[in-house]
Amino acid sequence: MSMPRCDQTIAWTALQGHFEAHGRGFDLREAFARDAGRFDAFGVSAPEVYADLSKNRWDDTTRRLLVELAEECGLPAHRDAMLRGDPINTTEGRAVLHTALRAPRGTAPFSDDVHEVLDRLLAYAEEVRAVDRSGFTDVVNIGIGGSDLGPQMAVPALQAYSHPGLKLHFVSNVDGHDIAPVLQQLNPATTLFIIASKTFTTQETMANAQAALAWFKATGGTDIARHFVGVTTNIAAAAQLGIHQTFGFWDWVGGRYSLWSAIGLPLAIAIGAEGFREFLAGAHAMDQHFAQAPLESNLPVQLGLLDVWYRNFHGFSSRSVAPYHQGLKRFPAYLQQLEMESNGKCVDAEGRRFAYATSPVVWGEPGTNGQHAYFQMLHQGTDVIPVEFIAVKTTSHDRSPLPDTVRAGLADQHVKLLANCLAQSQALMLGKTAADALNEKAPTASATLDRQVLANHRSFPGNRPSSTLVLEALTPRSLGALIALYEHRVFVSGAIWGINSFDQWGVELGKALCSQLLPRFATGEAEGLDASTAGLLARLRG
Ligand code: F6P
Repeated sequence: MSMPRCDQTIAWTALQGHFEAHGRGFDLREAFARDAGRFDAFGVSAPEVYADLSKNRWDDTTRRLLVELAEECGLPAHRDAMLRGDPINTTEGRAVLHTALRAPRGTAPFSDDVHEVLDRLLAYAEEVRAVDRSGFTDVVNIGIGGSDLGPQMAVPALQAYSHPGLKLHFVSNVDGHDIAPVLQQLNPATTLFIIASKTFTTQETMANAQAALAWFKATGGTDIARHFVGVTTNIAAAAQLGIHQTFGFWDWVGGRYSLWSAIGLPLAIAIGAEGFREFLAGAHAMDQHFAQAPLESNLPVQLGLLDVWYRNFHGFSSRSVAPYHQGLKRFPAYLQQLEMESNGKCVDAEGRRFAYATSPVVWGEPGTNGQHAYFQMLHQGTDVIPVEFIAVKTTSHDRSPLPDTVRAGLADQHVKLLANCLAQSQALMLGKTAADALNEKAPTASATLDRQVLANHRSFPGNRPSSTLVLEALTPRSLGALIALYEHRVFVSGAIWGINSFDQWGVELGKALCSQLLPRFATGEAEGLDASTAGLLARLRG
């Protein structure tokens, strides 16, 4: 479906005017002083997630114009086309139906196929979890990108719900330093390898699968059929590698949207069939919200529109994600693929070069660790970087088998964690004037430096925007909803920009050049190479 280019819409022009009049000079502190109801007015509730969007540089008019932009760009129709299964991934001629993977039986396209594999997958996960019978102690997922980042992120996130007798490992990098330390810990008699690759051709995964097979045979492993399982759309290629136990999925599931498919097997093994179904149900609840809620109160829509406002009007080129939950330590990495592989494009769905910016850089670390690393720059650096805080109200460590006294201490630590989270968004917004800094005591500051100079160093510009997402608890259901929220938010900004968010041609050139360079490492042949690559090849060979 052809959509009007966003920069040629009436709403875009209106937003440009609005930005010049009210956006460029927008001050969050003044906005809160003007409007006592701002917090409520800019709060959005979605299944499992509440979002405080009030500490962002926008007002009612901005939001109204952004919704008009979404309508003019045909966002609702594009969303419906995706959910219906139209081939919106035009460059690959594919439908985009990750939502069908979490829809109840009989309610979405391909339901019979989806539920047949899901039932089989979950039955298998339960077999593995019955460790007294299965004998497994370790499960190693070998995959990369979308065949790694999802399970690698979700398994620690749901550690509190995980099988205590099974250790999950993740190997992705072609660098042997990734797999070597994992293999050293394993016993072939008690290890299950999952070879996860949509295509079953990915260099890294094939190399690591070969290494795992070689290790298995060399250390006395005998039953490959029992100890290796494949997850792929290319069952034939798995069979060629000697892996006959497989779970399939389909070309309408993008790699970075595949955690809901059999790619989620490590998670299903960790949290069990019931937990995995809850995870899917949380995502489905978010799908329904995305499909049905009015654009004004639709959380993925509001977040995606805010992204457009910041990227294209304010010119902010990055967004930092700070999950205040250690379980979400890999969430920023997961989001990097989701957002940047989806929307990091410079031509629109019709192949026309963009005259406007697209995907921001997405990055971050869990709080409070990030505070002691790069938050300095967020508070006082020259760039404005919107921050997205994720706060989880209740803990999961009360489920752990620790002594009561320790658990009580950890509960206190949780309050400290939440206080830090709120303090950071507060500090970003409020800042501190040099005049205030001048009046403060600074015991660690130089006693000889001019006081005004010192105050300049100790002042904060403030007015730095942030959003805070709040979960009641980090559960299979809420994690499912949270991930689906981000998927749809990326869809929204991509749809406004006119991007095909579901292909990734940008990864191909490096892969092709790598294949050409590989034999040169054996021969040393530098003919036809640029001087830098030839020089580096000579240094790295041998
Ligand atoms: O890096 C490109 C990419 O194709 C990703 O989109 C994908 O998630 C990853 O490689 C892994 O691909 P596969 O699952 O086919 O091994």
